[in-house]
Formats: sequence, C-alpha cells, structure tokens
Amino acid sequence: MADNKLNRHRAFLKDSLRLQIDFSQTDQSRGVEPPPLQKPPRKDQRPIPLPGQDSFDALRGTDLVDAISQRRSHRHFLDQPLSLEELSWLLWATQGVTEILSPSSALRTVPSAGCRHVFETYLAVMNVASLDQGIYRYLPLDHKLAVESLSDDLAERLSDATLGQSFIAAAPVTFIWSAIPYRMEWRYGLAAHRVILIDAGHVCQNLYLACEAVPAGTCAVAAYDQERMDTLLGLDGNDECVIYLAAVGKPG
Ligand SMILES: Cc1cc2nc3c(=O)[nH]c(=O)nc-3n(C[C@H](O)[C@H](O)[C@H](O)COP(=O)(O)O)c2cc1C
Repeated sequence: MADNKLNRHRAFLKDSLRLQIDFSQTDQSRGVEPPPLQKPPRKDQRPIPLPGQDSFDALRGTDLVDAISQRRSHRHFLDQPLSLEELSWLLWATQGVTEILSPSSALRTVPSAGCRHVFETYLAVMNVASLDQGIYRYLPLDHKLAVESLSDDLAERLSDATLGQSFIAAAPVTFIWSAIPYRMEWRYGLAAHRVILIDAGHVCQNLYLACEAVPAGTCAVAAYDQERMDTLLGLDGNDECVIYLAAVGKPG
C-alpha cells in the first residue's frame, strides 16, 4: 500500500485535530439541545424488565486479580442457555447506569470521553432462558430489554454479516454495539470519532472481566460486513452504525 495512504490513516490515531478545531462552534457551545441519553423505545415496544442488581449478589466472590489473569478469548461454547440473571449482569457491567447527573448526563459502569456514552447495545439472542430468538436492545436508563425483531433465520443472517465466523452464530448471545456519533459530535465536533473507538475498548474489556464472574466466555469481534450488520439491526449506517461485537456463552 502506498505510504501516503497509510500515513493518512495513521493520522486518525493522533489527537492533532484537536488544536485545529474551533470548539466555540460545536453544537453544545452554540446552545443546541443535547441528544437523549438513550435511544427511546418505539411506541409499539413493551420493554422486558431485567433482574435487578440484587441478583448480582451471587457473583460477588469473584477475585479481580484472578479475573484479569485468567481472561481469554473464547470461541467454543457449550450448548447451554445463559440465564436472564447472567445476561442482566453482563449488560449492567458493560453499559449500566450508576448515577444520573442531569437529564442529559449519566455515569455508567464504564468511562466515556466527556461522559457522552454514544453506544447502544443490541443483542443477537440465540439461546437465553425465557427469551425468543431475535434482536433485542438494552435500555440502560430503565435496565430493560426492548425487542427489536424476532426471526428464525437469525443464525444464518448473523453468520453472513460476520463474514462466516461460524462461532458467532453458534454463541448463545452476541453483544453488538452501535454508535450514535452525534452524541459525541455535539460536544467535540471532528474530535469525536477517535474517542468513540477508545470508549468501545472499555466496554468490551468490562464484558471480558464480567464474564469471568459468571463464569462465561467471550470473544471480541471487529471484522464484519458493515452493511449487512447495520441492516440486520435496522440501522441507517450513518446516524447510527455498528462498530464492535462480542460473542458470549459458557466456555466449551
Ligand atoms: C479489537 C479486537 C478485534 C477482534 N476481532 C476479532 C475477530 O474479528 N474475530 C476473532 O475471532 N477474534 C477477534 N478478536 C480476538 C483476538 O483475536 C484475541 O483477543 C487475541 O487473539 C488475543 O487472545 P486473548 O484475547 O485470548 O488474549 C479481536 C480482539 C480485539 C481486541
């Protein structure tokens, strides 16, 4: 590949843009209303309550030093369902809200640049107790799940959208994180996109460590067919697009 093309892409790793941005011109500085903290559920959706934080008590004995030293990527999963309690824990550990600061700002279990938290968490559910196969979305402010779509051919569509990485469609559940870039752009303009990707790493690392408590296993996935994955979730690919995935199950 031509060196200049590589160099142009390397520029994305750096924060050089920051000094060129006129932050007095961002939407936040111009007084534009902040975007909502979470994408609201559709009117026809009846969100499913998830087990509350008291259900995490059983996981409290987990040693953090062990969790960090034993963490591995897992691609083989037992043919065993995840319980709703386990799923609830993994969702809370990755995107749960721990404190609401104002109508437009909330702290979560993971850090985020400027506390902007741009992610929505979708789940491709194949085998979770009491949930039908389909696509769901986590509502962190309510700690509930919205049913996006139910489908019998989810495994096939997921496999196509992940370039034939067959362990993903075979996993009981796959976390699929989308980004709504405007939540970050509202404050940082052109400096938004680099920190969105940095934020995504925190979310997935919490998933790896939270899995150790279950115990469950996960594997991060950044290689997928962008258009098919966005279509699978019903996203327009511009105002909201998939950026990262992780397959989860009981390690085989
Ligand atoms: C950003 C990122 C993207 C990854 N994408 C994939 C992927 O598309 N497919 C896959 O099988 N593993 C993927 N992995 C998992 C890595 O292959 C794995 O972390 C690496 O081999 C080290 O193994 P360990 O996680 O067990 O330490 C990804 C990991 C990261 C952090």
